[in-house]
Amino acid sequence: MEIEKIALQMLASGKGILAADESTGTMTKRLDSVKVPSTEENRLGFREILFTSNKVGSYVSGVILYDETIKQKSSNGDTIPELLNKQNILPGIKVDAGTKPLDGSPDELYTDGLTGLSERLKEYYNLGARFTKWRAVYKISKDHPSQNVITTNAKSLAKYAALVQEANMVPIVEPEVLMDGNHDINKCFEVTSAVLKECFQELKNEKVKMEGIVLKPNMILNGADSGLKNEPAIIAAKTLECLKNNVPKEVPGIAFLSGGQSELEATTNLNEINKINDTKLIFTFSYGRALQQGALKQWAKDIHDKKATQSVFSHRAYMNSLAATGSWKQDKEVLLSLIHISEPTRPRLIS
Ligand code: 13P
Repeated sequence: MEIEKIALQMLASGKGILAADESTGTMTKRLDSVKVPSTEENRLGFREILFTSNKVGSYVSGVILYDETIKQKSSNGDTIPELLNKQNILPGIKVDAGTKPLDGSPDELYTDGLTGLSERLKEYYNLGARFTKWRAVYKISKDHPSQNVITTNAKSLAKYAALVQEANMVPIVEPEVLMDGNHDINKCFEVTSAVLKECFQELKNEKVKMEGIVLKPNMILNGADSGLKNEPAIIAAKTLECLKNNVPKEVPGIAFLSGGQSELEATTNLNEINKINDTKLIFTFSYGRALQQGALKQWAKDIHDKKATQSVFSHRAYMNSLAATGSWKQDKEVLLSLIHISEPTRPRLIS
């Protein structure tokens, strides 16, 4: 399939992406937090439960996998990409190699992974991947982000995207301005604008086809330590303005990360953005924590009770599917009393 078509399939109306690509280190932290041992079997077990949830293919267009998962087999003998394909879900793969301290600004992180990337892309394509992800992170403080981190990460994101398109896959370009910090929403707007501007400049320099990427940015929020209240209508207006100003019109759509917002916040804010969207850009979700938290807590209660975990996950995916068309309402959260809507999580610096 042509990459433009894959991108549109990823952004299909009322569907979004499940980010289940936590590295083993991050997944171990997630499992530790609910007191489940992080064995290969448990990591697969939880993920397979999500991937086989009721109507998952109606809400989820793609799943981002980690290297371990794309090579695993499900309990019915299918490989994980085969299992997803059978439900009309595109398999994707995280291809960055995580973050490292930046030379000259060691408090900041750059994303590593370009070495040997072309070969890994061929392998992942043969395993069934049709899109990829690369995440860069930027922290806001008095002195950060530096121009150095903005330039370095933009150059790698662009080189990555060019190589992925050459390998006939769609690159998810993920520059994440972290919500950590005591800054206000205007600072987040300013930093995100600068980051996106640089990324698109470098993407153009590398001749990346804009029609064949999906941008995965943060929403524009007050810093998590600011004590300021986040109003969905303001978040939506600022986020839309920032993206309108900085995203070329050829880009088909945006799949937001949740970044440490609670499940409910991430759904509400996506819904608000879609309610006021007056552009051709498609806005959907590519959530990790904001799709999985409730399901993970439910699963930890009894890892053999597949149905209970799946009902929590399906509900969350359905709510976000509604938000992806601006048709979510609070009263649709009928399962609220049954599930545990978790507290906002803190941003993560690790991959
Ligand atoms: P969160 O939605 O948990 O931020 O994760 C999305 C993701 O893929 C980060 O790289």
